[in-house]
Amino acid sequence: MIRVALPKGRLGNDVYDRFAAIGYSCPELKGNSRKLVFEDAEKGISYILVKPSDVAVYVERGAADIGVIGRDTLLEYSPDVYELCDLGLGRCSIAVAAKNGWKDNTALPLRVATKYPNVAKRYYAAQSREIDIISLHGSIELAPIVGLSDVIVDIVETGTTLKENDLSVVTRIEESSARLIANKSSYMFKKESIDAIVAGMEAFSE
Ligand code: PRP
Repeated sequence: MIRVALPKGRLGNDVYDRFAAIGYSCPELKGNSRKLVFEDAEKGISYILVKPSDVAVYVERGAADIGVIGRDTLLEYSPDVYELCDLGLGRCSIAVAAKNGWKDNTALPLRVATKYPNVAKRYYAAQSREIDIISLHGSIELAPIVGLSDVIVDIVETGTTLKENDLSVVTRIEESSARLIANKSSYMFKKESIDAIVAGMEAFSE
């Protein structure tokens, strides 16, 4: 039995459709229930529905054998897992953004609002730019609008959120998409089953 940690939400639905398309369906999962664990004993697969930022924790600690997570989250948390393949779903960038017309004052530390403090620190350290990190959990775009920060480091997918809030991209830092990850010992003991899933995913992407 392989246990898969799926990120709850839109990405999770797309990922589940991909698993179903390569033969690991579990129709109950598509229902409107509040259940969090779904199992298809015949196909040897079970799914758990997890908050996207928690997928790495479940997989790293072996509560799930494999999981799907954005490269953005892998870069931020650097979990001790294997990255098996790129599913090509959930494509987005991690970018620095600011109010339209914003000019950097390099005489002062840059105030950076983000839910990616590690990615932001690494990026600015490489540029020897002094920063003040303001860690937030959501609606990051609000920070420069109300003067909480100078810039944000956040995900840009369609760009709509930035546009509708009079913000724009200053620099793209990293590109992201959904990755299949595995717990290291699960991969050793269930290599055949996990490799079959990877092969299915890779064949689907070609
Ligand atoms: C993410 C991200 C941006 C938005 C970008 O937020 O933090 O706010 O999506 O998408 P767009 O470029 O297509 O507009 P999310 O929806 O995860 O909510 P959050 O603000 O609670 O983080």
